[in-house]
Amino acid sequence: MALSDKPRSILFEEVEDGVSNTSTNPTIGDVLAERFSRRDLMQGMLATTTMTAAVSPALLMAACSKDTSSTTQFNFSEVSAGANERHYVADGYLADVLIRWGDKVERDAPEFDVKTQTADAQAKQFGYNNDFIGFVPLGGSSNHGLLVINHEYTNEELMFSGINPAANKQKRFSEMSEERVAIEMMAHGGSVIEVKRQGAGWKLIDDSIFARRITASTEMEITGPAAGHEKMKTSYDRDGRKVIGMLNNCAGAVTPWGTWLTCEENFNGYFWNKKAADKSPHAVALKRYGAPAERYNWGQYHDRFDIAKEPNEINRFGWVVEIDPLDPNSKPKKRTAMGRFKHEGAGNLVNKDGRLVVYQGDDQRFDYIYRFVTKGKVDEALRDGNKDLLDEGTLYVAHFNDDGSGIWLPLVFGSGPLTEASGFSDQGDVLINVRIAADLLGATKMDRPEDVRANPRTGKVYCMLTKNKKRTEFSTNAANPRAGNAFGHIIEMTPDGGDHTAPTFRWEILVKCGDPNVAEVGATFNPETSASGWFANPDNCMIDNEGRLWIATDGNSLAKTGRADGLWALETEGTARGTGRLFFRCPMGAELCGPCTTPDSETYFVAVQHPGQSEDNKVSTFDSPSTRWPDFQWGMPPRPSVVVITKRGGGKIAV
Ligand code: FEO
Ligand code: CA
Ligand code: CA
Ligand code: CA
Repeated sequence: MALSDKPRSILFEEVEDGVSNTSTNPTIGDVLAERFSRRDLMQGMLATTTMTAAVSPALLMAACSKDTSSTTQFNFSEVSAGANERHYVADGYLADVLIRWGDKVERDAPEFDVKTQTADAQAKQFGYNNDFIGFVPLGGSSNHGLLVINHEYTNEELMFSGINPAANKQKRFSEMSEERVAIEMMAHGGSVIEVKRQGAGWKLIDDSIFARRITASTEMEITGPAAGHEKMKTSYDRDGRKVIGMLNNCAGAVTPWGTWLTCEENFNGYFWNKKAADKSPHAVALKRYGAPAERYNWGQYHDRFDIAKEPNEINRFGWVVEIDPLDPNSKPKKRTAMGRFKHEGAGNLVNKDGRLVVYQGDDQRFDYIYRFVTKGKVDEALRDGNKDLLDEGTLYVAHFNDDGSGIWLPLVFGSGPLTEASGFSDQGDVLINVRIAADLLGATKMDRPEDVRANPRTGKVYCMLTKNKKRTEFSTNAANPRAGNAFGHIIEMTPDGGDHTAPTFRWEILVKCGDPNVAEVGATFNPETSASGWFANPDNCMIDNEGRLWIATDGNSLAKTGRADGLWALETEGTARGTGRLFFRCPMGAELCGPCTTPDSETYFVAVQHPGQSEDNKVSTFDSPSTRWPDFQWGMPPRPSVVVITKRGGGKIAV
């Protein structure tokens, strides 16, 4: 198939999998010697010596004392790896569908009718392709709370009848009428739902005052250093401070004060007019962001997605959005201080000094890992005290040295090479085109960074690197050591002094993924790992309340790894370190997203995204899908859904 003849689902994956980083980054020696002043470095050093450990010595001791043990951290019987139309969970557990695409979210939402769907109905119903899930307890409860859920993108060939995903782009676009596009736009964004434990399962609260849909049409505020910037102004927003909608919200996080960070990823796919982009004065920046990728035809009906008609609109996407789920009338805020790139997630924790640290991956081949440190401290007494905390702070990008050390490079206007001489006018400009700024600093090109999350018990940070087939033997480095990396790997980072704001860290590879029984794959799972326990393509991860690491994957299939995607437990301590075990398995075509736990560890929520998506060169459509999960009803296509997992008879999961 030629590129334009591939199904949308595959094209979308290629948006993430393309290469737009053509920079030739210098070595870190050059960066330090030539580009940072002595003052910049001294400030960094000072920061290390004055910051205290991010975790208490007692917790660190507890973690260390585990180190010599070969005992597993997880207690459950493994699921067999494989792939078919259904989902599976470990014996002794229940895995029930909680909410599906089209189910009622807002009070006055109509019943879902897939054949007569409208944009008005979709605007009130659960959106498509659920990705991140966060649990926000109500009244501190583990049995009653809000779920905040991202709707990343839409698979038109599975949502609407008669679309042939193997047809060329013109043909596929011609099938997408204005009303169908409007439905897609309403199926993007996010949902807030209220849920309550009931017996062994969970139920949705009807008529919840918190229930809310966010869509590609929800008005949002732009805050932080790029708000009001010249490059953020459009004909419909001459102040550069408000924007309509959020796009491609992939992973995210919940903050310590209970707001939802939802992260815009492949925003470039929604814009079109390549001809205009090539002639644009911003052509270099557009290219660095792979824009416009023309994956959707929204520009046909909405001028703002046409680069020629509204050249700055694209600068208003690619941000972390903060939403307060406890206030259904609150306006979502795009927090520009955290930079503009293809954000996967926003794993965060409170450093011992009280500042919030947010770890972030930029999910594209050869792109970077970032860290944001707030200027102010988290107000633990007053929730409202944190309402603008994320608007001020320092964004850093990671450089990995081959000797197992690493350094965080500050993305600050006026510091190092980030000056007018390099084309930057101010801090807003650095943040809008932060990929270009990070290139200049000599950041390390990674194998598609997805979730990056810290374990508050041990202080260790885990980075999922999903894959990078374009990595060649000439471009490998110690942190990305495999040429043609089809299966991905996981890096464990340890901040120096246990301080997540420190300028330096140590790192090592926890596991190289893929089938450990095939020598040329070069996977490095612990030999104790069973035939079902290894996986490829780590994407999301969860550190549970027991301090254990869980991995959700995106990219396994029968042809590639002999298994569907799913949720694997991964040992990080003692002699069991690097042992994987399969806990939950997706139906075919799906990836697993958003693993999330209640505070009492008795319930996990997982997002089954794009079930029945085409894979292994087999086209799957609304009319002839590879699975009709979860309804298995004739005429009903597969539906992305959130699944709730509990232990039969109750109790903590896998303990
Ligand atoms: Fe939307 Fe990086 O996965
Ligand atoms: Ca996804
Ligand atoms: Ca992802
Ligand atoms: Ca992915």
